[in-house]
Amino acid sequence: MTQSIGIARAHTNIALIKYWGKRDKELFLPMNSSLSLTLDAFYTDTKVVFDTELTADSFSLNQKEQSEKEIEKISRFLNLFREYIGEKRFARVESLNFVPTAAGLASSASAFAALALATASALQLDLSMEQLSTFARRGSGSSTRSLFGGFVEWEMGTCSEDSLARPIDPADWDLAMLVLAVDTSQKKVASREGMDHTVATSPFYQAWVDTAKADLAAIKKAIAERDFDKVGQIAEHNGMKMHATTLSANPPFTYWNAGSLLAQEAVRQVRQDLGVSAYMTMDAGPNVKVLCRASDVDKLVGALSQHFPADKIITSLPGKGASQLTEADWQASLERFGAGGQL
Ligand code: DP6
Repeated sequence: MTQSIGIARAHTNIALIKYWGKRDKELFLPMNSSLSLTLDAFYTDTKVVFDTELTADSFSLNQKEQSEKEIEKISRFLNLFREYIGEKRFARVESLNFVPTAAGLASSASAFAALALATASALQLDLSMEQLSTFARRGSGSSTRSLFGGFVEWEMGTCSEDSLARPIDPADWDLAMLVLAVDTSQKKVASREGMDHTVATSPFYQAWVDTAKADLAAIKKAIAERDFDKVGQIAEHNGMKMHATTLSANPPFTYWNAGSLLAQEAVRQVRQDLGVSAYMTMDAGPNVKVLCRASDVDKLVGALSQHFPADKIITSLPGKGASQLTEADWQASLERFGAGGQL
């Protein structure tokens, strides 16, 4: 066969119990298991074409050809699949990010999950989604969770084969997430470097690992009981602890900026004024994400927009797992992207 094509969509996910540190950087084995909510509003569509005519891999993101460095990352990822089945062909990869790239909205999560599924589909690999998540993991750890919808656990596992994601709950019970987009420009310290530096230098790091384990067990119980407040409280505490490890790294750093603190204050004020449950979490960027009930979204957005620009508040419902797309879907994505679908 000269040409094999695969197209896929994966949504981003926001961790409620964070992945923050690797015990094996080569294999992307994490220090702790993590748990996330997949979001409907942000996703990546990716098309992969393996072709005997190609003399090198190539990669375009948002219709712009990428640098050698970016292509190298994609090639290394494709090599995992090529080595798995003895595939020799190079590939053309095209991705459309319906996500503000590198703004702490975990775009690498949707990117590598979509690329993993598109590649497996092009090469007609007979892999379960759990198995595929072990491939996605080696592009970016958090992407392992984006293959599934709803609440998803990434089990830290004991080795490369069992460090994988599993769906926990479809999250179809009156849940939503608001993103307060404090700053959507490129982040300064990538999550990869930030977590490595923290593992190596923070005296608080071991406490993070130890307590993340207890947080995970507690949040899984709260999800099973559909106890929204418990889920939110555990997530908010876990996220703050992750950020405390960056402040205690040496030299110290933080992903927060002044706008993040103002957004956090707005959330505290609004939840007190309205008496509505809303819980914060942040990732490797300045944006603040708020877990809330879907039925409270209008009330919360109305009140938050008194303190924060309304056009910078993005609402998302829980999202589905990754799926294959048809060529017609891909054409529709290209049109939507051209019409300004990108945030
Ligand atoms: C703070 O998955 O981006 O978003 O595995 O090095 O690519 P690499 O890191 P990445 O880290 C995500 C960190 C986080 C927390 C989380 O998503 O669990």
